[in-house]
Amino acid sequence: MYQSIAWYATLFLVFLLALAFAFVYGESRKLREYGPIQEKGYKIRKFYFLGLLALMGFATAMSLSKLPYDNPHAIAKEHAKIIEVTGLQYAWEFSDENFTVGEEIQFRVTSKDVTHGFGIYNPDLQLIAQTQAMPEYTNTVAITFDEPGTYKILCLEYCSVGHHVMMKDIIVKPKGGNDNDN
Ligand code: CUA
Repeated sequence: MYQSIAWYATLFLVFLLALAFAFVYGESRKLREYGPIQEKGYKIRKFYFLGLLALMGFATAMSLSKLPYDNPHAIAKEHAKIIEVTGLQYAWEFSDENFTVGEEIQFRVTSKDVTHGFGIYNPDLQLIAQTQAMPEYTNTVAITFDEPGTYKILCLEYCSVGHHVMMKDIIVKPKGGNDNDN
């Protein structure tokens, strides 16, 4: 969702920028003597410059406070289920393999040997989340499965001869089931 907001915001700003360029280009073709009108223009320019500075300062302050954007502490809700994931040549080890639709999951991903790519694919084989599995480092990725089915974990980084067999199926069960937790 945030990506599409960012995309439309970028499009809009690029459009404004293009308008400004077109305006400046158009104005630059008109020859004019300098005079009082220009001096007034310089004052307006100063005003707009300060306004722009304030706007950008505000936007920077607002967005800086959200860094890092995928702060694990920020996204890990109190009841997120934590799954430790270890990549190794050539398999994925999970601390738990029970998944249910609607459950908030936080994968904490690391590697025993070399760098792997942890990619989660939905039953239609579309990539829905990914992070790197790095030795001596833990990356987190949060996800909530929204439909039941067999999902696949594929390695997204070439990690030697067995790279292509480094995959795992996980089964996401429908909500409800036997336990009446919802
Ligand atoms: Cu592990 Cu490619």
